[in-house]
Amino acid sequence: MGKHFKTIAAISAIVILTLACYAIHKNYSLLFVILIALMGGAGYQIRRMNIRFEALNSELNQIFNKSTNGMLIVDEDHNILQANYAMLKMTGYEPSGASLSRIVGKKCYDIYPNINCNSSSCPCKRIFDGEQFFERDLTISLKDGSQVHCIVAASPFRKDGDRAMSVMLDYKDITERKENEKKFARYRTQLQTMASELSLTEERERRRLATNLHDSVSQNLFITKMKVGALRKCENLVNKDEALSEIYGNIDKALSETRTLIFEISPPILYELGLDSALEWLCDTAGKKHEIKFSYSSDMQDRKVDIDVAILIFQTARELINNVIKHSRATEVQVMLRAGKEYLRCVVEDNGSGFDVSTAQQDLGGNAGFGLFNIKERLSYFEGNLLLESEIGKGTKATVIAPFKSYAREYSEEKNNEN
Ligand SMILES: Nc1ncnc2c1ncn2[C@@H]1O[C@H](COP(=O)(O)OP(=O)(O)O)[C@@H](O)[C@H]1O
Ligand SMILES: [Mg+2]
Repeated sequence: MGKHFKTIAAISAIVILTLACYAIHKNYSLLFVILIALMGGAGYQIRRMNIRFEALNSELNQIFNKSTNGMLIVDEDHNILQANYAMLKMTGYEPSGASLSRIVGKKCYDIYPNINCNSSSCPCKRIFDGEQFFERDLTISLKDGSQVHCIVAASPFRKDGDRAMSVMLDYKDITERKENEKKFARYRTQLQTMASELSLTEERERRRLATNLHDSVSQNLFITKMKVGALRKCENLVNKDEALSEIYGNIDKALSETRTLIFEISPPILYELGLDSALEWLCDTAGKKHEIKFSYSSDMQDRKVDIDVAILIFQTARELINNVIKHSRATEVQVMLRAGKEYLRCVVEDNGSGFDVSTAQQDLGGNAGFGLFNIKERLSYFEGNLLLESEIGKGTKATVIAPFKSYAREYSEEKNNEN
């Protein structure tokens, strides 16, 4: 504006000077020369302004077309006056050599039909009704049935006066963010459910152990006590041998039941002989109890495993074996322990029914139960992983990967030292 003012002032000054010159000298040719110069100057200025205007226009076009947000300019009758390529992509009109003309000229409600044009939630209506700026979340349903979540921001294009001539709409695609938010919310619910499920499981497990102790060990000891009491009262023991062997048998049974319970709670073999022997024992016991052929192999030799990792792998293998017994109807199971450089792998492979891993993964901690979800969570705390491969009718292969050294323990010890 300042520059235009200067130009006008310069032109006015020259005109005044020219007129003054003419008034003084009455010389037409001088007047003519000055007027030509004046017109040349004005033409030059106009050309410069045109170039600047074109440069500005091209910059604005580039910003509009190259924006990663979808953009539309829409008039009051909902006609699309301009659109950019991001919008073309977002509304599913891409690819196949897409051209902007596929959108331009259409009504905005034709390219995302689920917006209610006459309601107060329509950004165009809000702007034409006089608002300066309007923003809202919007879900666009595409032609292929998929949905795009975006934030649409609308602002007016004004010409003379206050009336909006058209509306500039800016669409920011937030589909990925929304998906992540959903995943995060689902994950949080799973963790909360797992926490409460864990305490319930703990209580159930205590109850089971108490019932087992009552029904087996303490029942046996009670009978034995009665027998010994009766023996004490007998003055002449006729069937001494028979009574003693019955008591001996009862004590033996109680001892074996106690041992079974101890192993169920926490197998001493894991702490005394290590992971390799504990896994072998786990397979032996499971094989004896169920009609499934278990085979175990290992190449661990004397490799040392941190006790935290050994407990983790043992409990994980136990859960995987329980899954095979519970869900797979397998006849054969292979358990393998393999030592890598820094990581070890434990594989549990069955020839059972198999299952749809992708659905189960989504449902982990949901309807399916918490076994696999719990394993995944615990392994990721140790920087390990669980890989599941399964084929319906053919069987399942679960591979547990964990480091020999417990980084998780190092980390929590470091944290404790810091505090
Ligand atoms: N070895 C397997 N064979 C067949 N299905 C399995 C196997 N392991 C897991 N599954 C399926 O995966 C689901 C999730 O297992 P899990 O998380 O341990 O929960 P739960 O055992 O309590 O059902 C099971 O309900 C079952 O349908
Ligand atoms: Mg399970």
